[in-house]
Amino acid sequence: MSNTTVLKILNELKKNQTIEVCGWVKTFRANRFIALNDGSCLENIQCVIDFENTDDNILKKITTGSSVKISGKIVESTGAKQAIEIQVNKINILGESNPDQYPIQPKKHSFEFLRENAHLRTRTSTFNAIMRLRSSLSFAIHKFFNEKGFYYVHTPIITGSDAEGAGEQFRVTTLNPKNPELNSSKNVDFKKDFFGKETKLTVSGQLEAEAYAMSLGKVYTFGPTFRAENSNTSRHLSEFWMIEPEAAFIDINGNMDLAENFLKYILEDITNNNRSELKFLESRLIDEEKRKPEKDRSEMSLIEKINFVIKNKFKRITYSEAIDILRDSKPNRKKKFEYIIKDWGCDLQSEHEKFLVEKHFKCPVIIYNYPASIKSFYMRLNDDDKTVRAMDILFPGIGEIVGGSQREERANVLKKRMREIGIDEKELWWYNDLRKFGTAIHSGFGLGFERLVMFATGMSNIRDVIPFPRTPQNAEF
Ligand code: 4AD
Ligand code: MG
Repeated sequence: MSNTTVLKILNELKKNQTIEVCGWVKTFRANRFIALNDGSCLENIQCVIDFENTDDNILKKITTGSSVKISGKIVESTGAKQAIEIQVNKINILGESNPDQYPIQPKKHSFEFLRENAHLRTRTSTFNAIMRLRSSLSFAIHKFFNEKGFYYVHTPIITGSDAEGAGEQFRVTTLNPKNPELNSSKNVDFKKDFFGKETKLTVSGQLEAEAYAMSLGKVYTFGPTFRAENSNTSRHLSEFWMIEPEAAFIDINGNMDLAENFLKYILEDITNNNRSELKFLESRLIDEEKRKPEKDRSEMSLIEKINFVIKNKFKRITYSEAIDILRDSKPNRKKKFEYIIKDWGCDLQSEHEKFLVEKHFKCPVIIYNYPASIKSFYMRLNDDDKTVRAMDILFPGIGEIVGGSQREERANVLKKRMREIGIDEKELWWYNDLRKFGTAIHSGFGLGFERLVMFATGMSNIRDVIPFPRTPQNAEF
C-alpha cells in the first residue's frame, strides 16, 4: 500500500478504508490520541492508539515532534472536534524527538523565540499557514501574468549596475580580502576581480526587464533582490523577493490600472483557495488584538481587510495633492509628526503614508507624479520639468507595497538626467541603446513580495513571512 496524505484522508477518502500515512506528531494526549500533521494541509488528523496492545517502548517514543508512520482504518470519530479519525493498527517510529530538548512545545511561543528556531518554526500552525499562503500567492502571481500574456524572464542576480542609484549594494568578489591587488592609483583593481569589473548583488531586475519588454512586449521578473541598507525595521529585509512587470506601450495610467488589477487578482485568488489558512490567521490576529488597547485595535478582521482591498477602488492622488492634505492635517498643525511637512519637494515618511491611508482616505492609495529630485533617474519626466511619472501604492498597515513608474523613453532627456545625478553613461550604454533603437513608451513597477505576504497574513513583522530572514547582523540558518 502506498502512503496517503492527511489532506486526502480529510477530503477524499471514505470511512472504513485502510490507509498508511506518515507525518509528525503535534500532540499526544492520554497515551491515546495523536494529532498528526504531514504538511499536506493545515489541519491535523486524530489517530487513536489502542494503548493496551501497544508496546510501552513505542508509546514512550510518541512525543511532540517525532515522525511516525501509521497504518490504520478511517472511522467515524466519537469526539466532538472531528468527524473522522484513524483507528491505529500499527505505528512505526521513524524519527524520535527528545521532549526535553525539542524547542517547539505544544504551547504559545513568542515570535522572537521562533525566529531563533526558524528551522523548526514551520512545525507550528501559524508558520505552517503563513508559508502555505506564501506559496499560494506566488503561484497566483505567475497565473495572473500568464493569463495576461506576460513572459517570465530571469534577470541576473549578479550585476554591474545600480538600478535604484541608492548605493546600497552588497559586493560580489573573489579578490583576497586581506591583500587585494591594487591599481596604479592604489585603489582596489577590480580588473583583477572575477568578472574583470566591480560587481554587486542586484537591487532590482528592472533595467534588464526593460530590455526584454522592448522585444517581448510584456514581461515580468520574480526573484530575490538584495539591499545593504542598515534599517532594522519591521518592514525591511536585506534579502527580499520582488515581482517586477515591465510593459511596452503602456503609460503611467495603464501602469496604475495594471498594478491595481494585479493586487486584486492575487488577493482574490487566496480568498478562494486558502480559506482555512486565512481563517486560522484571522483568529490568531483577533487574539493578538485583544491584548492591545481598544483604540489601537483594527476595525476590520483579516478577511474583511482583504475583501475591502479587492472590492474598493484605490484612491489615486498626485504628490502635490498629498502634500496639501498633509500640510493641513491635524498631526502636522499640532506638530505630532516627527517630520513636519512644510514645502513641496520633501520626501514622504512612513508616518505621512500611514496618515493618508489609515486616517484620511481609509483605503489603499496610489500617489503619482512625484518631484524628480526624490525619485530615480529612469522615471519619465513630465512637461513641467519638475515631476516624474512615478507611482507608489500604499496599503493599510504596510505603507509602500508597490513602487513603479513610466520610464524615460527619450534618449536625450535620459542622458541629461543621468548626468545630473552623476551616473556614468558608459556603465549603462546598453540601457541607453534601448532608447536609440526603436524606443517606445513603457512602464513597470515592483511589488515587494514579503510586504504582500504581511498584508495577506496579518503578520506585523516582515521577518515572520520569509523562511529564513536576512537582516543586518543576522544571517543564521
Ligand atoms: O520602490 P522600490 O525600490 O522600486 C524598485 O526597485 C523599482 N526598480 C521597481 C520597478 O519599478 N520595477 O522597491 C519596490 C518595492 C517597494 O515598494 C517595497 O514593497 C519593496 O519593493 N521593498 C522592500 N521590501 C522588503 N525589504 C526592503 N528592504 C525593501 N525595499 C523595497
Ligand atoms: Mg520605492
